[in-house]
Amino acid sequence: MSQIKAIKGNIIFTKNFGEYEIIENGYVVLVNKIIKGVYEVLPEELKNASVIDYGDKLIIPGFVDLHLHGPQFPNLGLGLDKELMPWLETYTFPEEEKYWDTTYAKDVYTSLARELWKNGTTRSCIFTTVHLDSTKLLMDILNHSGLGAYVGKVNMDRNCPEFLREDSVKSIEDTENFINEYGDKYERVKPIITPRFVPTCTTKLLRGLGDLAEKYKIPVQSHLSENKDEIEFVKSLHPEYKNYASIYKDAGLLGNQPTIMAHCVLLEDEEIEMLKQNKVFVAHSPNSNSNLASGIAPIRKFINEGIPIGLASDISGGHSLSMCNVMVDSAQASNIKWLESGKKEAPLNTAELFYLATKGSGSFFGKVGSFEKGYEFDALVIDDSSLKSFKKLSIQERLQKFIYTGNPKNIIKRYVAGKIIDEPYR
Ligand code: GUN
Ligand code: FE
Repeated sequence: MSQIKAIKGNIIFTKNFGEYEIIENGYVVLVNKIIKGVYEVLPEELKNASVIDYGDKLIIPGFVDLHLHGPQFPNLGLGLDKELMPWLETYTFPEEEKYWDTTYAKDVYTSLARELWKNGTTRSCIFTTVHLDSTKLLMDILNHSGLGAYVGKVNMDRNCPEFLREDSVKSIEDTENFINEYGDKYERVKPIITPRFVPTCTTKLLRGLGDLAEKYKIPVQSHLSENKDEIEFVKSLHPEYKNYASIYKDAGLLGNQPTIMAHCVLLEDEEIEMLKQNKVFVAHSPNSNSNLASGIAPIRKFINEGIPIGLASDISGGHSLSMCNVMVDSAQASNIKWLESGKKEAPLNTAELFYLATKGSGSFFGKVGSFEKGYEFDALVIDDSSLKSFKKLSIQERLQKFIYTGNPKNIIKRYVAGKIIDEPYR
């Protein structure tokens, strides 16, 4: 039986990039998990809907983190004194080794689910490790939590320590088993094909994964052009290719299925064109890009080209799971980029960043990240009464104040697909 519900409060979301939709003291009406519409006054035929009234609170779409590494959660805030390649060797691979142990994995991943919940991240795209059992465990934990996610078992068959290096054939077989077992197991926690990046994947492995993506229609996530030394290493490994992106393309891993490429800090013009043609999502992680001294991705340029963009924490290259922090870091990075570009590439404003953290990232999940008709109702209810203000603020000023100065305690309710999600594993 369909259930009609109206959620009342100060509604703010973005339908178009950089344009707020604001319904002060209005209603979002849902039929089961799907939004029927937003209204200033409930129409006559909806007068009997049950109303949940949040008074003066803000109601915003849930945040979507387009790229993060679950097993790196214990390293949050640690080991940020190296660039990408030595950072991986020194801090990241030794931590990822531990996930053969499902007891350790369970401990970390339950804590991760709780932190995602706490920060209002209702959906996310997550890399795990090469370990199949702990990857499945994360999917079970997220499903139990009620959060939505794509989760990818990482594939690596070269240029990484022995303890993480997979046999190419076994890596593909494990991934296929994973897809078979978890492809339809959960409604909102799904597998995603996850070659770590070209330096750690042979073309044989990449092609095998491209074939699986095609066979099972599974989306893809990886890393692209994050750091100068990484790119030079890729060029030395593959002089036969004209650029980094072409290696993924040739393997069927660049847009044949929905694809996310993290970072894209240092792309060549031809690669930018390839991302555009192949509708590849760029996951922008300014916090990580500063911590690892990678640079600043030209996001304004990508947007002008029509490339889909989402925001991402990229923990533990990034040191915070908070998508509010990611929005602020993106704003600051874009200011520097604007200066560097001779004031040509305009900075990203709050409305634009709010779009990227909700509908921008959310589009990878389908109709997620907005309150438009037909979208799944993922939402946060924000009580900003504790945030000091000495004048009356507009709804959009209140949102900006929350993004810049608020914290998870201001989030008093989280909805995923129409349902309230309580704190997991309390
Ligand atoms: N490139 C390949 N692996 C990683 C990782 O774990 N983090 C980041 N930031 N970049 C990567
Ligand atoms: Fe990453």
